[in-house]
Amino acid sequence: MISETPTVELKSISKSFSGVKALENMQLKAFAGSCLGLMGENGAGKSTLMKVLSGIWVKGTYTGDLLVEGQKLEFENPIDASKAGIAIIHQELSLFKELSVAENIFMQRFPSWFGILQSKKLNEKANEILNRLGFKLSPEKKVKDLSIGEQQLVEIARAFVSKVKVLIFDEPTSALSDKEIENLFRLIRDLKAKGVACIYISHKLPEIREICDCVTVIRDGQWVADFETFTDEQIIEAMVGRKIENVFPPKRPFNSARENLLEVRNLNVIDKNLNHKILDDISFDLKKGEILGISGLMGSGRSELLYSLFGGLAHCKTQVDVSLESKPISLKSPRAAIQSGLAFLTEDRKGSGLVLEMDVKSNMTLPILKKVSQALTIQFKKEKEVVDYYQRLLRIKTPSIHFKIRHLSGGNQQKVILGRWLSTAPKILLLDEPTRGIDVSAKAEIYHLIRDLVDQGLTLILVSSELPEIVSLSDRVLVLQEGKKVGLLSGNEISQENIMMRATAA
Ligand SMILES: Nc1ncnc2c1ncn2[C@@H]1O[C@H](COP(=O)(O)OP(=O)(O)OP(=O)(O)O)[C@@H](O)[C@H]1O
Ligand SMILES: [Mg+2]
Repeated sequence: MISETPTVELKSISKSFSGVKALENMQLKAFAGSCLGLMGENGAGKSTLMKVLSGIWVKGTYTGDLLVEGQKLEFENPIDASKAGIAIIHQELSLFKELSVAENIFMQRFPSWFGILQSKKLNEKANEILNRLGFKLSPEKKVKDLSIGEQQLVEIARAFVSKVKVLIFDEPTSALSDKEIENLFRLIRDLKAKGVACIYISHKLPEIREICDCVTVIRDGQWVADFETFTDEQIIEAMVGRKIENVFPPKRPFNSARENLLEVRNLNVIDKNLNHKILDDISFDLKKGEILGISGLMGSGRSELLYSLFGGLAHCKTQVDVSLESKPISLKSPRAAIQSGLAFLTEDRKGSGLVLEMDVKSNMTLPILKKVSQALTIQFKKEKEVVDYYQRLLRIKTPSIHFKIRHLSGGNQQKVILGRWLSTAPKILLLDEPTRGIDVSAKAEIYHLIRDLVDQGLTLILVSSELPEIVSLSDRVLVLQEGKKVGLLSGNEISQENIMMRATAA
């Protein structure tokens, strides 16, 4: 039952960053026992609004009212918000990599516990939370040894340290496997049944439909509409302000007689720590000008396949024979791979992609410095031209190209890093979850852009957990299951059903 007084209400919230308006007269209500979806394009102000609600942007840094159960509150720090029962699971992982899972779970909320509780006790307490949530994680493990998906689970577990009335999920599923998403949704239903008000931010409409009872749409920092029932088109139109047609470029006929650009033979990857085979004798050809999709469940070795073509993973032993245009090459280091004409957009933009303290421009031109520099001095004009071009092409929302990347919205950070690799003009581009955290209209732009680049001669390997992306863009799809190649689909064989059938076949 939805009660009358909202558990939390934000009224006329406005906030600027150095004169640039991020929120203007924004409003939102979340009720006990219900889940509110918050949707809007990249840079619309969703995370900023949630940072106001969770005490990260404190009183005085915004105007407007924040009411919890009808009572006006002003937070001086996140601890105040936490005491009022408001917890947030951040979009960008903010864990301490050198610390253990348990230490991370308790660190931020109760720093004083840290010294007092012995590690055994801390581990027990963390275990309690992890078990309750159904997360299979060892509390003693260092965060740096976890996959991104596992790190996200730690981020979630952290919100359950104290009693919550309002729980905010800022794009929580971007790095979770289907199974983990299922667990998370079970958890949210559980929380709803216990009377918690959830706020759920996502760019994925199917998720919003599954878990949310109502949706608030924000555009350019302003409230646009509240929906209780809706169609995808209605939400998209409210977010974007116009209709979006043809999210994907039309499929094209594929000529399988094309010549091979890359030949990969007997790729074996072994995890040295666990002595476990991650990829088992994979061979495939990459044809000139094709988009080769790599599909499989999370953990099937999709990302590892890309890493193994780009210098390998530090904790793994990689063996493979690779030829480029029929000549054997070595891809033993990222540098060797780049020299051979490969570029790699990794899924972990914070870990191995962006330098948060540098500006948009430098982040974009990092790998092409050689190209834009001459006689050791960077040609600023040329650099600016390149950056301006990709800013326009990808519609990166930033006050200027000298803006610190840390302050861009999540989706816009993703666009900068995509621009970085496109600007290296590679022969072969490896993309790992390229549209993670990107809104629908920008996604459509990126899909069309990818197709244009491929039409102009780029060859692409695409890893994505979004099946529609794989199905609609790929000329052929290599399906993996537990590190083994279990299928190679082309033409009309490429469908979600066919991929899933192979990826999950016993
Ligand atoms: N600390 C900051 N300093 C300056 N500008 C900021 C800061 N944080 C956010 N902004 C700006 O405020 C606007 C809203 O950003 P916000 O992160 O709230 O967007 P979002 O809706 O969460 O987008 P996304 O879907 O990409 O995560 C953006 O233009 C962003 O660049
Ligand atoms: Mg955000």
